[in-house]
Amino acid sequence: MNSCSVRLFIFPAVIFLLCLSSNEAATCHPDDEAGLLAFKLGITQDPSGILSSWKEGTACCSWSGVGCVTNRVTGLSLSGQSDVNETYLSGTISPSLAKLQHLVGFYFTDLRNITGPFPQFLFKLPQLQQVYITNNGLSGPLPANIGALSQLVELGLDGNRFTGPIPSSISNLTRLFQLNLGNNMLTGTIPVGIAKLNLLLSLNLGGNRLSGTIPDIFKSMTKLQSLTLSRNGFSGSLPRSIASLKPVLLFLDLSQNNLSGTIPIFLSNFKVLDSLDLSRNRFSGVVPTTLANMPKLFHLNLSHNFLNGPVPALKNVDGIATLDLSYNRFNLRTIPKWVTSSPSIYSLKLVKCGISMSFDHWNPVNPNIYYYVDLSENEISGSPARFLNQARNLYEFQASRNKLRFDLGELTNLSERLELLDLSKNMVFGKVPTTVATLQKLNLSYNHLCGKLPVTKFPASAFVSNDCLCGSPLPPCKA
Ligand SMILES: *[C@@H]1O[C@H](CO)[C@@H](O)[C@H](O)[C@H]1NC(C)=O
Ligand SMILES: *[C@@H]1O[C@H](CO)[C@@H](O)[C@H](O)[C@H]1NC(C)=O
Ligand SMILES: *[C@@H]1O[C@H](CO)[C@@H](O)[C@H](O)[C@H]1NC(C)=O
Ligand SMILES: *[C@@H]1O[C@H](CO)[C@@H](O)[C@H](O)[C@H]1NC(C)=O
Ligand SMILES: *[C@@H]1O[C@H](CO)[C@@H](O)[C@H](O)[C@H]1NC(C)=O
Ligand SMILES: *[C@@H]1O[C@H](CO)[C@@H](O)[C@H](O)[C@H]1NC(C)=O
Ligand SMILES: *[C@@H]1O[C@H](CO)[C@@H](O)[C@H](O)[C@H]1NC(C)=O
Repeated sequence: MNSCSVRLFIFPAVIFLLCLSSNEAATCHPDDEAGLLAFKLGITQDPSGILSSWKEGTACCSWSGVGCVTNRVTGLSLSGQSDVNETYLSGTISPSLAKLQHLVGFYFTDLRNITGPFPQFLFKLPQLQQVYITNNGLSGPLPANIGALSQLVELGLDGNRFTGPIPSSISNLTRLFQLNLGNNMLTGTIPVGIAKLNLLLSLNLGGNRLSGTIPDIFKSMTKLQSLTLSRNGFSGSLPRSIASLKPVLLFLDLSQNNLSGTIPIFLSNFKVLDSLDLSRNRFSGVVPTTLANMPKLFHLNLSHNFLNGPVPALKNVDGIATLDLSYNRFNLRTIPKWVTSSPSIYSLKLVKCGISMSFDHWNPVNPNIYYYVDLSENEISGSPARFLNQARNLYEFQASRNKLRFDLGELTNLSERLELLDLSKNMVFGKVPTTVATLQKLNLSYNHLCGKLPVTKFPASAFVSNDCLCGSPLPPCKA
């Protein structure tokens, strides 16, 4: 987790708790009770009983998810658990919620099967400031007059199925400090009027079908800490005005677009940037040496671009935490020293980076901090056995398509957490030890292993093309 998302997403909770704290569990206003009960009628399935406390004639301020100030409902907060299947609501959002005239905060999160169009009743609530309808099934266009909700300070509509363009009237939501329209099916370009939202701390338009260039909208956004435009079809180079975000930006994710050009030198002036993801684009050229001067960069993902040249040593004193330079045109030869010496690195992905060192010469300061290592498609020789026997927290180790040459029997003390081991296409010899049986995924194909296989759940493809392996799932050993 990056500190940024935690910091940003604390705001709604705090504001909402303020609303709830003055809840007096009083009998609520008849309009509010009627509105809520009519809403309940629009819900067709509630398998986990989210609304089971909503009973006519009981004090509606004490119903679960309902917050009041004196006898008026000011907050409505219903959420499912994103990881539990049985927690959801099916149905539509009844327009009767317009009766909740004092509503300030409206939170419908992870209910999953709430369907229908953008709820029009929101336009009838004069005091509404926070709207989160996230991870539900709303669909259709965003209303052209969405800018009329001008008193909103937070708007989250991520994880629905909204289509069509981002309405240009969104530029009238000038009080917003949080705007999240991610993971929908929005099309068209970013309206330039978004530049007027100069109080924004967080802007997320990721995971849509937006296209065109990223407009020069950032000069006025002097407070923006988090910007996510990943997983769209944006093209062209980075707009110059992103440079204005240098004093404040903590999190920048532009991954999985069609952006091109070089990585701009101005990024090195981002003194608080914690996380930079430019992966899966068409960036080319060398990585500016000045990137070394970013003092707070903990997460860097430049994978799947056309970058080349040396990678500057990041001087951040606490060390890099996650690094992915895979699938570029780098020719690193060794795992860089500044990476190996990082005291905080837990994810290292250097696939196809032209590394030709011996694993025996790699001495990370503390093998226990690694969770994910992927060094596939290099020319690494030697043995990873010492590292694999020491790294107590390792979940995944991939080093396929290298020149590793060691006796697999040396893997005597694998991490109990290890789930994935891929050593395919190397020169690994010896027998397959029983210690691999607890893994979830294993690939030892295309090596020089021999002997009877231990009992495992893995398919034959995990073991094919070795010298003389035998026994289930491969053909039986000759007696
Ligand atoms: C949840 O539902 C999905 C799709 O219906 C299913 O594939 C998955 O196994 C379910 N998970 C659990 C924990 O029931
Ligand atoms: C989602 O809602 C629709 C209509 O209300 C219903 O037919 C369907 O069974 C629901 N799906 C799930 C997974 O509950
Ligand atoms: C923004 O609001 C003003 C005043 O309410 C209105 O005149 C204007 O048309 C709105 N802008 C957009 C783009 O909707
Ligand atoms: C991505 O950009 C390149 C030119 O830089 C263009 O040829 C290609 O069609 C674009 N791809 C998509 C999916 O937009
Ligand atoms: C880097 O980005 C790629 C593609 O966007 C993703 O698959 C990969 O998991 C990311 N790496 C890390 C270390 O998060
Ligand atoms: C395996 O690793 C654990 C934890 O580091 C250690 O205590 C134990 O001695 C090791 N066992 C062997 C056989 O090396
Ligand atoms: C195992 O590795 C080989 C060679 O790298 C690869 O072609 C194959 O797809 C892998 N199989 C599985 C099940 O991952």
